[in-house]
Amino acid sequence: MRRLLMAAASLGVFALIGPAAAQSPIVIKFSHVVAPNTPKGLAAEKFKELAEKYTDGKVKVEVYPNSQLYKDKEELEALQLGAVQMLAPSNSKFGPIGIREFEVFDLPYILPDLATLRKVTDGPLGARLLKLLDGKGMTGLAYWDNGFKEMSANKKLLAPADYRGLKFRIQSSKVLEAQFRALGAIPQVMAFSEVYQALQTGVVDGQENTASNMYTQKMHEVQKYTMMTHHGYIGYVVVVNKKFWDGIPADTRTLLEKAMKEATAYGNGQSAKENDDALAEMVKGGKTELVKLTPEQDAAMRKAMEPVYNDVAGRVGKPLIEEFIKETKAATN
Ligand code: LMR
Repeated sequence: MRRLLMAAASLGVFALIGPAAAQSPIVIKFSHVVAPNTPKGLAAEKFKELAEKYTDGKVKVEVYPNSQLYKDKEELEALQLGAVQMLAPSNSKFGPIGIREFEVFDLPYILPDLATLRKVTDGPLGARLLKLLDGKGMTGLAYWDNGFKEMSANKKLLAPADYRGLKFRIQSSKVLEAQFRALGAIPQVMAFSEVYQALQTGVVDGQENTASNMYTQKMHEVQKYTMMTHHGYIGYVVVVNKKFWDGIPADTRTLLEKAMKEATAYGNGQSAKENDDALAEMVKGGKTELVKLTPEQDAAMRKAMEPVYNDVAGRVGKPLIEEFIKETKAATN
């Protein structure tokens, strides 16, 4: 044994597994599908900056934007397997791994504004939804905003009837599927990274997304019209692999929680401005025309999408939908 140890020492093995190993940082791979200059991309960079600063280099955060590592569907599976440690998928993307409740955020016109949303996510319902992730090998850390969605197509869509027969790309959410079916359109689930090309080649006719996502993917360059419908919301749940998170020393984890809290406040504090700026750039580009609906046209869209609430009640849960609506009402009163 002694001889073995001496041989190891002479080979410098101890130098490798001794002090150096103790100092090697905990690495958090943070994968996401959008561009760096979006609400999620910027919040992820802010978390990296603060996490590395507060832990004094004990933690290293590697951010991989633009679906570099994984596309939508694979992302959550990779997190569950521990291939990446942190993600921020949109609410719409939890259905395929068996958590349908987050699809409540997809219901058309359920949120009047970001302030109301914040009251819901910061309240008891928001906390309870995060707890659902525990059973899937994940820990939910925060809610990050993107913002409100607009519709786009090569045709002006002023009334529900204008949507009939058109193919729309959707995220993997049954609520979004029901929404386009209510308009007589054909929804098609597709990874975010594939949307631009699908629009360009006519695989789909249109899509719905926030201005920042549209602009950074250049969707506005291949869509003649952007309808300012604000009909739904895109936001994210920041999740970590539970086993990995629980294995981080408690004092370090506390510092990471502080970094997450501050990155969340930073990101959510400027998401609306990022979408406004993206919209202004889209207008400047001159390739898409912004279409504002009149109050009557807006009312007709709302009415056409009303049945969605009943259509998805069995899946998302009627009591959950009712509780969500109650909380939004309480927040606006
Ligand atoms: C989408 O797939 O359209 C969005 O969820 C992308 C994102 O992460 O904002």
